Amino acid sequence: MHVEELVKSLRENSILSREELRQLLSGYGVLEERSPVRDVKMCETLPGARCTKEESFLFENARQVRERSYGKDVYLRGLIEFTNYCRCDCRYCGIRRSNTVAQRYRLSREQILDCCEEGYGLGFRTFVLQGGEDMAYSDGQICELVSSIKSRYGDCAVTLSIGERKRESYRAYFDAGADRYLLRQETSDPAHYRYLHPEQQTIENRKRCLWDLREIGYQVGCGIMTGSPGQTTEHIIEDLLFMKELSPQMIGIGPFIPHKDTPFAREKAGTLQDTLILLAVIRLMMPDVLLPATTALGTIDPLGRERGLLAGANVIMPNLSPAGVRGKYLLYDGKICTGDEAAQCRICLEKRVERTGYRVIMSRGDCAGFVRRQNRE
Ligand code: 5AD
Ligand code: FES
Repeated sequence: MHVEELVKSLRENSILSREELRQLLSGYGVLEERSPVRDVKMCETLPGARCTKEESFLFENARQVRERSYGKDVYLRGLIEFTNYCRCDCRYCGIRRSNTVAQRYRLSREQILDCCEEGYGLGFRTFVLQGGEDMAYSDGQICELVSSIKSRYGDCAVTLSIGERKRESYRAYFDAGADRYLLRQETSDPAHYRYLHPEQQTIENRKRCLWDLREIGYQVGCGIMTGSPGQTTEHIIEDLLFMKELSPQMIGIGPFIPHKDTPFAREKAGTLQDTLILLAVIRLMMPDVLLPATTALGTIDPLGRERGLLAGANVIMPNLSPAGVRGKYLLYDGKICTGDEAAQCRICLEKRVERTGYRVIMSRGDCAGFVRRQNRE
């Protein structure tokens, strides 16, 4: 089947067989070397952006599907990177335990609450508390933090992104008021997982965490990096099928970018094109899912986040961390926005979003499917 036929079929049925996904990804040259002199056209919506005729067809379909679920709205989440201490040693990550040159920091409860206060003033209604797996914050402290934020800002959603924990801990954070939890599976393939992580970290535990989070009642986010070392299209197909099965409310997709003080320092970064294609494919597979145009995408291309929005993404997660620590939460090299103030990013993003023809909405921005299900209950 021609790729455009596959796109139509994916749009109609929100699923393709394994073989069709294989044809679709290979038809779009995902993870393949692309010739720079391709038959490219300018993107009608974004000056300076180029793509092929087939890509343009895919992105256009993804936009139509996202507009049916979310109209022109783009949701913002305020990201607070509250600790870069981590017990894990993921080979791709700049804050891995073995990186002895990383400058470590922890924000105090008061500093975190100050970030929320500033964020609330700037209009944010979702706070994402993200950090390494830092056991210096006890479950009790995390719960206290979540409930303090929820009691001050009752109209806000609190999202946690603090890695693999026990089911009881997830339960306790949820009971304290946490609404959402982000934990990327990174890869669904056991051998690839072992290539990206040390032995103690297993795909089984990762997936156990994701299913626990779902069952407890969180709005869950999973995801992968595009072009991570050792990744093949078969792995991506496995990831797409896993996502369909888990059916999370959010999926985070960004390119892998090497970090100089990790074992993957000399590996190639994932590409803009591959990331855009995956965003669009996921949008067609899961019309209601929340899809961020990630900071990593904005890092590999100056128009990366805008192009992500035009390929089906509908969320942006600007940084609310205090300026003094931003340059230290470095998962990969070259991260953007490390020198800017929260207010600057807020204005900058509003302008960027406007250039795509979409508009920033400062609400909690729950997943459309999740809202429908809650209304039925
Ligand atoms: N490049 C891109 N993304 C990375 N992440 C971690 N390290 C890198 C890197 N080098 C992603 C992981 C993680 C998320 C918080 O950031 O997918 O889940
Ligand atoms: Fe941070 Fe543009 S989003 S400066």
